[in-house]
Amino acid sequence: MPEPLLVLCGLTDAMRARLSDRFTLIETRDPAKLAGQPVRQVLTDGHIGVSAEIMAALPDLQMVSCYGVGYDNIDTGACVARGVVATHTPDVLNAEVATTAILLLMACYRELLRDEAWARSGDWERQGNAPLTRSVDHQTIGILGMGRIGQEIARKLAPWSPTVLYHSRTPKDVPFEHVPDLVEMAQRSDALIVITPGGAATLGLVSAEVLAALGPQGTLINVARGSVVDEVALVAALSGGTLGWAGLDVFVDEPRIPDALKAMSNVVLLPHAGSATVETRHAMGMLAVDNLLQFQEDGTVKTPVPECQ
Ligand code: NAP
Ligand code: 8YV
Repeated sequence: MPEPLLVLCGLTDAMRARLSDRFTLIETRDPAKLAGQPVRQVLTDGHIGVSAEIMAALPDLQMVSCYGVGYDNIDTGACVARGVVATHTPDVLNAEVATTAILLLMACYRELLRDEAWARSGDWERQGNAPLTRSVDHQTIGILGMGRIGQEIARKLAPWSPTVLYHSRTPKDVPFEHVPDLVEMAQRSDALIVITPGGAATLGLVSAEVLAALGPQGTLINVARGSVVDEVALVAALSGGTLGWAGLDVFVDEPRIPDALKAMSNVVLLPHAGSATVETRHAMGMLAVDNLLQFQEDGTVKTPVPECQ
């Protein structure tokens, strides 16, 4: 009987096929069902993570593979303390998440949802042309987080001739201006794109002050984690007109989205779909499986999270 693998997240058919050859899959999130199971490896994703109860129920745990690049729901401190290596799926999703950020930006600027409804509802025939929208060309775009995905967003924006500014704790080797003060960057930006990790270090980083600095003509795009933006302040700013538009892929309490946001016409909402194409999820799935199989073979992994390198 192949050794057990605890699977906490959903699997694509290709992931299941490769894993089933080498492991007996245990698909449960109930720690009580794990008693006595000699589980060394776990597969999870960035939303589900690994709870403290599951960690405690697995005395033989050695490796956690995350099907996603963000791993804020995996307690890496606890992993390091126990000698457990955690892996994730960097780089293979950069292009897709960057596309999603730009899709949201375009949808806000060009009022895609309003104009689509205008065409579909017959308003065009009844009322004539839809009101004008805003051009995305030649905007100042502030990118909060200039890592793998932030850099890809900046690259993909090039055809729209933006002035790119960025904020991160340390400057990067990129041809864009680093702005050490986030409020100042928001003041200078027409749109702010958020693409940092989640977790304690970025909790509420996009505060009421940052949103006010972005201003009534400003656009906020969040493809990072809901926790990075103060969502209560965001709702207040959008409804009070002190922030113009928002394109949001991520929320504080997913999959729940505040009703106030759902009711706003100056907001575009996605269900955390930043990497959710067949092609990119396949690439992420294969990398998550590669890490599991390589660890099973020789105890090494391809893409450990920085804390476990
Ligand atoms: P990355 O390469 O590690 O880049 C993270 C960037 O954020 C770095 O520039 C980092 O620079 C900056 N940063 C980190 N902490 C910060 C802080 N406290 N203040 C300001 N800047 C900070 O990560 P990545 O691969 O680009 O991914 C970024 C995140 O995107 C993931 O962790 C995940 O949460 C999110 N994501 C979302 C989706 C989606 O479906 N919506 C998909 C993939 C990823 P410094 O360390 O110098 O500050
Ligand atoms: C996915 C993500 O939603 O990689 C991440 O950090 O947020 C997304 O790509 C998810 O993690 C897939 O399991």
